[in-house]
Amino acid sequence: MQKVKELYEGKAKKVWTTEDPELLIVDYKDDATAGNGAKKGTIHDKGIINNRVTNHLMKLLEKEGVPTHLVEEISDRETIVKKVSIVPLEVIVRNIAAGSLANRLGLEEGTPMKKTVLEYCYKDDALGDPMVNEYHIMAMEWCTKEELDLIAKYSLKINEVLSAYLKEANIQLIDFKLEFGKTSDGTIVLADEISPDTCRFWDTVTKEKLDKDRFRRDMGGEEDAYKEVMKRLMGE
Ligand code: TMP
Repeated sequence: MQKVKELYEGKAKKVWTTEDPELLIVDYKDDATAGNGAKKGTIHDKGIINNRVTNHLMKLLEKEGVPTHLVEEISDRETIVKKVSIVPLEVIVRNIAAGSLANRLGLEEGTPMKKTVLEYCYKDDALGDPMVNEYHIMAMEWCTKEELDLIAKYSLKINEVLSAYLKEANIQLIDFKLEFGKTSDGTIVLADEISPDTCRFWDTVTKEKLDKDRFRRDMGGEEDAYKEVMKRLMGE
């Protein structure tokens, strides 16, 4: 399958059309941004790691009954995916207080919570992806109630599957961000990526950060951290 035309260039990926109107090719870049584009840089080989880790985890999720946009990995950085219309929401799933939730609620990072927390943000860079709730989503008709219920159900299932899987690799899943899309026949599927860019991964024992927070917070060591995640999950 060949790339035909560049459809879109995002902060971390390019998306190309193909000869098949139902399929796209995603091309992962090494470019890294944080703070809605305020901080820019590169993380060497990030594109390769995020492509491979995303596909590895999406295959696992498919096996566990969560439909995804994944079709086929065609190179280190490129994957064929189903064309979807993206539901304009970022779904954030949180197990342990960190990042913006820790700041918002005045909690120390690492504080466990009694229940998994689901948050929705409206995907709009110009507005800074504001947090919204079910009422906003219904009022703006970003998706139907049935679709949102399914998105919430899949998000919690993904959390269960990934938390257990990552624990085996000595990685604690602190929180993560998901995006969903609708295929041409109206099926809701998991889209976008699941990678150290979009998840907080902590070493279970040392609590060392193995994710993009190292870049966001100028801690250094992001390249080694990304490599370590791929090594723990895929043995390479
Ligand atoms: P937050 O604590 O900054 O709200 O982030 C929560 C989780 O969602 C964290 O794992 C990083 C991820 N995330 C993204 O992948 N993209 C985003 O634009 C944001 C705000 C968070």
